[in-house]
Amino acid sequence: MKHNILNTGLYGLLVKNAPNKVFISIILSSVAGLLQVMLIPLLVTSFNLQAAHIAPGLEYGGAWERWGVRVDSPRFALCFFAACLLILVLRGTSGRLMNEVVTKLGLDLKRFIYNKVTRAPVQDLEQVGFAALMASLTSDIDKLSTGARMIPIVLNYLIVIGGVVAMLTYLNPGVMLFILACAVVGVACYQPFSHFGGQALGQARRCVNQVIEFNRGLIYGSKELKLNRRKRDAYIAELHQVEDQQRRFQLKGGTLFLVGSQFAGLMNMLVIGLVAFVMSNFYALSPDALISIVMILLYLSEPMMGIVECLSSLIPARISVLAVRKCLRQLRAESEPETDGKIAIHKLQAFQLEYAYQVKDQADFQFRVGPVSATFRRGQVSFITGGNGSGKSTLSKLLSLHYLPSDGCVMINDERVTDENRSAMRQNISAIFTDFHLFPRLYDVAEGEAGKIAGYMQELKLEERVSLDDGKFSTLGLSDGQRKRIALLVSYLEDRDVYVFDEWAADQDPQFKEFFYSTILFRLRELGKIVIVITHDDRYFHLADQLIKMENGALKAIEQRQALAA
Ligand SMILES: Nc1ncnc2c1ncn2[C@@H]1O[C@H](COP(=O)(O)OP(=O)(O)O)[C@@H](O)[C@H]1O
Ligand SMILES: [Mg+2]
Repeated sequence: MKHNILNTGLYGLLVKNAPNKVFISIILSSVAGLLQVMLIPLLVTSFNLQAAHIAPGLEYGGAWERWGVRVDSPRFALCFFAACLLILVLRGTSGRLMNEVVTKLGLDLKRFIYNKVTRAPVQDLEQVGFAALMASLTSDIDKLSTGARMIPIVLNYLIVIGGVVAMLTYLNPGVMLFILACAVVGVACYQPFSHFGGQALGQARRCVNQVIEFNRGLIYGSKELKLNRRKRDAYIAELHQVEDQQRRFQLKGGTLFLVGSQFAGLMNMLVIGLVAFVMSNFYALSPDALISIVMILLYLSEPMMGIVECLSSLIPARISVLAVRKCLRQLRAESEPETDGKIAIHKLQAFQLEYAYQVKDQADFQFRVGPVSATFRRGQVSFITGGNGSGKSTLSKLLSLHYLPSDGCVMINDERVTDENRSAMRQNISAIFTDFHLFPRLYDVAEGEAGKIAGYMQELKLEERVSLDDGKFSTLGLSDGQRKRIALLVSYLEDRDVYVFDEWAADQDPQFKEFFYSTILFRLRELGKIVIVITHDDRYFHLADQLIKMENGALKAIEQRQALAA
């Protein structure tokens, strides 16, 4: 998507992503608009001819009568109804095309966001947060699509207005000038309504992220909320407060737009009144000319009011464009690996590695991890240990190339990991973090691994609880320990050079702990993998080739195997 939401507005997105369809849709809609305009002279001429009782030849066919129904000027009538039908078909086709473009635009935008999300560093995603992304993907995309749908409608209205203005100028330039002056005053008066209405809707939009975050807590925290009624009531009250605030802003915005559109309608009638009662004398209009002008002005009210209506969708769409842009601008894009192949890793080094958390609204408080310098080699199992909050998990995210170091660097095979090669290097790393996510299906596992998978399932005592059907797990409704064992199976099958386990064994039975430390780690070492294990299990420290001790973010000590065995 070359023209994306980051550098193009709503109109640009629409036009640039499907230029042909938008062009045809606009042409069809313009022709419909012109036809609509042509209906006025058609009617006026027909009235005039009928009023003047002009000779039958000029009367465009004389009257037509059948079954007690009399139609005056049948050819005019035929033209009128045919034009109406054509307008219907043209508008319908234009709308259908535009619908296609808009639904595709919504989907393309979502896919653009997916792409940005998958390419963004984890720390950027953590910074932006789940709620902001969800709000962009759902409510913003909806508002954007609704707004985009209005664009051809507005164009159609503008064409009708343009045609009507041209006709009025032809009929009476003086009256047209007066009407134009009124229009300028009208637009100027409408401005504050749309400005403050837009502002209120912008404030309502800012509440959306908070509501989504609260809703998440409502579902994922349901167990805690059920156990404490006072907590639940306070939480719900807080949620209601945010929602009420959102509703107030929405109401304010909606009311301002409504009053604005009422005001525009009033202006329209005011102009008609002024023309009919005041200007008609000023310009000495004949009754016929006055009727024509008033009819034209009445005809003008539909597109005028239509545009005002469209603005109440276009302005929220603009707010959503800005919200999506703000969210996406915080996501940097990592370069994609050039090839699918893995880069063999035989050495992973942390060199004066440091990381500082950027905490929102707490510029003065920053937790820093590091500097850490350590080397991890093939066939070596390294344990990282330390108290809670000592920075072990942060270090594991730095070593698995998820967090970008604030200082120092990670070196792989003596080559510095940079923005260019980071995602390629990551393709040979497998990690199970404490907040791991289990996907319901096995991806990227070669066919013919079924036998191997069955063997691992048996070893991990999973075969009775879960089965694999066409790469899909039969269930993920399992205990935490079992889910972790599935994560281990997935990780094992990925067959990477580097393995990172963050407190994997913490909630396993002694039997599986033993299996993990003695069998799995042994096997990975035998296979020549680089293994990094975060653990508190001091019973197994002797199995490590090196033991890295962290304390309060800093590296306290690194002990090598000889010392550990002693
Ligand atoms: N997402 C985060 N945002 C800000 N600070 C964080 C975040 N995650 C961790 N920290 C800070 O980093 C410290 C170390 O966290 P972590 O690496 O998870 O520790 P450990 O795994 O050793 O228990 C925490 O005490 C906290 O202050
Ligand atoms: Mg941790």
